Amino acid sequence: MLPNLLHAAFQRQFHHTPTLLVRAPGRVNLIGEHTDYNAGFVLPAAIDKAIYFAIRLNNTSIIQLYSYDNHALFTTPTTEVRPESTLWANYLLGVVAQFEKRGISVPGFDCMFGGDVPIGAGLSSSAAVECGLAFALDALLETNLDRMTLAHMAQKAEHEFAGVQCGLMDQFASLFGQDGQVVRLDCRSLEYEYFPFDTITCHIVLCNSGVKHSLASSEYNTRRLECEQGVAVLQRHYPLVQSLRDASLEQLQAHEAELGEVVYRRCRYVVEENIRVEAACQQLAAGNLRAFGEQMYASHAGLRDDYEVSCPELDVLVRLAQAAPGVYGARMMGGGFGGCTINLVEVDHVDEFIRSISAQYEREVGISLETYQTTIVSGVGVLEPVVLQ
Ligand code: GLA
Repeated sequence: MLPNLLHAAFQRQFHHTPTLLVRAPGRVNLIGEHTDYNAGFVLPAAIDKAIYFAIRLNNTSIIQLYSYDNHALFTTPTTEVRPESTLWANYLLGVVAQFEKRGISVPGFDCMFGGDVPIGAGLSSSAAVECGLAFALDALLETNLDRMTLAHMAQKAEHEFAGVQCGLMDQFASLFGQDGQVVRLDCRSLEYEYFPFDTITCHIVLCNSGVKHSLASSEYNTRRLECEQGVAVLQRHYPLVQSLRDASLEQLQAHEAELGEVVYRRCRYVVEENIRVEAACQQLAAGNLRAFGEQMYASHAGLRDDYEVSCPELDVLVRLAQAAPGVYGARMMGGGFGGCTINLVEVDHVDEFIRSISAQYEREVGISLETYQTTIVSGVGVLEPVVLQ
C-alpha cells in the first residue's frame, strides 16, 4: 500500500520518521463544469485515488520536498519561497506562500508525496497536492484553519504559483468529500449540500482519452475572461448582475448582438449549465438516474459546441458511451481539452461497457484506452501512523 512505501522512503531520504501521514483525494464532477468561477453550482465528489504525504518539521530553515513519483528532490530556504522552474514544486511552494501571507511563518520541513491520481487526466491531482499540504501544515503548525479557508488558500496557490485562474471546485471537493456522497456547492454563498450516490448499483467509470492538450491552461484563462466580458455587457443593462449566475437566458438573448457571437455562446452555456445542475440534483434525489444522465449528455454538448473546451477524442468517447447499453450518462470532465470522460454505468453492464468502448476507441482513435472505476470517499484526512515490520 502506497502510504507504507512512502513512510519507508521518507525514512531513507530524510533519516527520520515522519510525524504525520496525510491522504488527499482527487475528484470527479458529475455535472456543473466551468460554473465555479461564474459563482454558479457544481456537483463533485472525492474519489479513491489520492496523493499521500509524509511530513515532519526539521528544525532548520530549509524546506525539502521530495516527489516520490518523479524521484526528485527540491530544496529551498524558507526565506526564498517563490515560483520556480521545477513545476511540481510550485503547487507546494504556493501553499507555503499562502501561510506566510496570513502572517504564519512556516519553519523548515521535510515532505515526501506521491500517489495514484493520474496526472493531466482531469482528476485534479494538483488540487490534491495543494490541499494535502495545506492540511498537513495546518496540523503541524497547529494553526486551526477551517477547511473552507484551506480550500481558498489552495486555490490561491494555483492562481499565484501555477498561473491557472481556477475556481474553487477541485480544492473544495478534495477537502469536503464525504464517503458515498456527492456534494453540490453554491460557489457564491459557499453553502453546500450532500446527496447520497450509490456506486454499487451505478458505477462511475472514467475513460482517459490519453490526450493532454497544452492549450488547457491558456484557454481556461481565456474562457474566464470571456465570461467576465459577458458580465460587463449585461451590467450596463442590469446593474444587479454580478456574475453569470445572476443572468437569465432572456437577458442574454436580448443583448446577443452586443455580446458578440462568441461571448454570447460562452455565456449561454454557463447559464444553461447552472439550470442543469439544479435539475440534476432534484433528479438524483428522486432516484431518477436516467433523467440525470440526460443532463450529463446535454452538458457535454454545451461544452463541445458553445464553450468549446472539448476535443475530438473526448467527443468520440461520449458518442460511444451514448450508444452503449446500460449507460445513464457521460460527458467530458474538468477543464477540458483532454483528460477523462465520466460515465455512469449500470452495474451489470460495466464489464461489457469497458470492453467494447476500449476496443472501439482504439479502432477509431488509435489510442489504447485506460479506464478507472472509482468509488466516492471522504475528503483530506490524517492516516494512522503506519507500523512497519
Ligand atoms: C478545472 C478548475 C476548476 C473548474 C473546472 C471546470 O478543474 O480547476 O476550478 O473550473 O476546471 O469546471
